[in-house]
Amino acid sequence: MLSSLCKLLLIGRRFCGGIMVFYMLILLGIISNLFSFGASSGEQPLSRIAIHKATFAIHGSAYVKASPNVLGLKGENKEWVTLEYSHPDPSSDDWIGVFSPANFSSSVCEPENERVYPPTLCTSPIKFQYANYKNNAYNKTGKGSLKLQLINQRDDFSFALFSGGFSNPKLVAVSNAVIFANPKAPVYPRLAQGKSWNEMTVTWTSGYNIDEAIPFVEWFAQGTPIRSPAGTLTISRSSMCGAPARTVGWRDPGYIHTSFLKDLWPNLKYTYRLGHKLSNGSYVWSRLYSFRASPYPGQESLQRVVIFGDMGKAEADGSNEYNNFQPGSLNTTDQLVKDLKNIDIVLHIGDLCYANGYLSQWDQFTAQIEPIASTVPYMVGSGNHERDWPGTGSFYGNKDSGGECGVLAETMFYVPAENRAKFWYKTDYGMFRFCVADTEHDWRPGTEQYKFIEHCLASVDRQKQPWLIFLAHRVLGYSSDYSYSVEGSFQEPMGRESLQELWQKYKVDIALYGHAHNYERTCPVYQNSCVRNASNLYTGPFAATTHVVVGGGGAALSYFTTLRTKWSHFQDVDYGFVKLTAFNHSTLLLEYKKSSDGKVYDHFTISRDYRDILACAFDSCARTTLAT
Ligand SMILES: *[C@@H]1O[C@H](CO)[C@@H](O)[C@H](O)[C@H]1NC(C)=O
Ligand SMILES: *[C@@H]1O[C@H](CO)[C@@H](O)[C@H](O)[C@H]1NC(C)=O
Ligand SMILES: *[C@@H]1O[C@H](CO)[C@@H](O)[C@H](O)[C@H]1NC(C)=O
Ligand SMILES: *[C@@H]1O[C@H](CO)[C@@H](O)[C@H](O)[C@H]1NC(C)=O
Ligand SMILES: *[C@@H]1O[C@H](CO)[C@@H](O)[C@H](O)[C@H]1NC(C)=O
Ligand SMILES: *[C@@H]1O[C@H](CO)[C@@H](O)[C@H](O)[C@H]1NC(C)=O
Ligand SMILES: [Fe+2]
Repeated sequence: MLSSLCKLLLIGRRFCGGIMVFYMLILLGIISNLFSFGASSGEQPLSRIAIHKATFAIHGSAYVKASPNVLGLKGENKEWVTLEYSHPDPSSDDWIGVFSPANFSSSVCEPENERVYPPTLCTSPIKFQYANYKNNAYNKTGKGSLKLQLINQRDDFSFALFSGGFSNPKLVAVSNAVIFANPKAPVYPRLAQGKSWNEMTVTWTSGYNIDEAIPFVEWFAQGTPIRSPAGTLTISRSSMCGAPARTVGWRDPGYIHTSFLKDLWPNLKYTYRLGHKLSNGSYVWSRLYSFRASPYPGQESLQRVVIFGDMGKAEADGSNEYNNFQPGSLNTTDQLVKDLKNIDIVLHIGDLCYANGYLSQWDQFTAQIEPIASTVPYMVGSGNHERDWPGTGSFYGNKDSGGECGVLAETMFYVPAENRAKFWYKTDYGMFRFCVADTEHDWRPGTEQYKFIEHCLASVDRQKQPWLIFLAHRVLGYSSDYSYSVEGSFQEPMGRESLQELWQKYKVDIALYGHAHNYERTCPVYQNSCVRNASNLYTGPFAATTHVVVGGGGAALSYFTTLRTKWSHFQDVDYGFVKLTAFNHSTLLLEYKKSSDGKVYDHFTISRDYRDILACAFDSCARTTLAT
């Protein structure tokens, strides 16, 4: 009987004349478990809503109306809706939650999400906004209107008006449902380098399971298009490691398809589209996209790489962001989109979208980066906000992933790793070799990862690929970030102690990190000392690795210590990213650009010949014999 009451309430405006209030007292015990995250990165805004405490206070004359009812009639996967709403008893902390599926209050509460009677809500909204946002008269008149941007996320949407703020939400009115014309449409393709240089992988999301349609990519350079099959992966609630991913933050991530486009011709431009062949023989298509195939390893041509960490996502309609969770995210994305024709590959080294267990945010992140990720390989690394969860094999036992324990990142994005649950891999791009480490797994000598790192660094032919780049999420090298200075380590403890001999021996040119939300560049440094003074131009033999922190992709900035370290050369507290340009085998340029204006604020060039990499530096001298 109680559960049918819940259903009635959703059509409750007619049914419940006058004011009808259900009160309930809720278990508070799960709150602390649900809503604790690493302090350094702020809070996922959705975690502020105590959705499990929600009560019903359906008001007979309150309403929310959403229009249009059907979105994406021209095939768009992103559209604006307009809400009109009214509440006879308004308050300045009234808010509107966007829910999907639309019938949210009838969704089943999982056992872990201890259900309380009368029924509470078991699902977090996918976003929210205050009812008086840009409606100054709302707290007097109770009337307002709001424009919100929706993306196609495989299900319908409804908009619910709550009073009582975020901590004691009371559901006042629910709108009509709104849906995309084809909610199952294939969306948000992301490219990634395959395991070999001439393979591009395309990963996308749809609402079609394998028993309903056959997924594939149709692609061509010139002439007849060919079709490559795609595999399909799903994610179940039971694969989540804890709350909120397993409870209020759970939302079905849909079907994740990956296709492997093989035997590509170097540098050739290809056009592609995503397809699903339905069982009745008809096809569902995405729009057309294109990419340029990667250069042959060692090939000399202009090669431009963008690198950053910790970008996150943000809502173009201003929702969710009262907390300033990732204030720089949209600027970074927009700046890269603007310069996309001058970018060949992107590396996002961890802390991708900070969904932190609110799974709807992964769709919103992949939608935000779509212009970039559908056009150039978007290579990701693993960060604490993707992976960490106690007792699940992460090197750190904190709760930064909100219960995702890596499953979302490892499924939503392809990486050419041997085992995607161990997120380290190498990838070659022309004159570059990238060795991407996974700081959420142990990297110390003797571990599987340490062996991988050494193998990645040792197995490159520097005459062909002179530019050897090491990447990781947490700062394994050097950082003057305030939090690292408080620890006294100026790095992630056990980082450089474990790896500096490898960087030196194999002459890693540049090591880049995220996690600290700022930009910093060192001198060429080994064992805490500058081997050479910092400069904007390095010529001659390799001296030591330059370490760069580029964690200002978008998440709230962090500050530097006022202590001066001898190795720190340039520091900036702002949003930005790094661009590496290899002009040829002897000239590499690093530029640090701000996301706000795209201009260069720090740069240096490495200029050298092949024999200069062979030269003997401290801890890197090859064995020789006196025999002739
Ligand atoms: C709610 O909607 C989903 C699909 O959007 C459907 O699968 C489910 O059966 C609905 N639940 C109820 C109780 O109507
Ligand atoms: C009314 O709404 C505005 C925002 O539009 C808010 O700043 C103000 O504090 C509210 N006034 C009261 C009395 O709640
Ligand atoms: C095949 O099925 C889809 C989805 O049910 C439908 O939209 C389409 O019109 C059907 N096509 C044919 C040729 O029957
Ligand atoms: C750096 O420059 C200073 C002064 O210009 C000089 O004294 C010092 O020896 C240099 N250090 C290195 C490592 O070259
Ligand atoms: C490499 O490129 C740089 C920058 O364009 C140029 O100055 C230099 O002459 C080139 N070197 C060779 C060997 O082509
Ligand atoms: C985003 O870029 C705009 C335009 O340059 C700038 O005014 C704004 O401050 C930037 N936002 C952030 C958070 O840096
Ligand atoms: Fe991080």
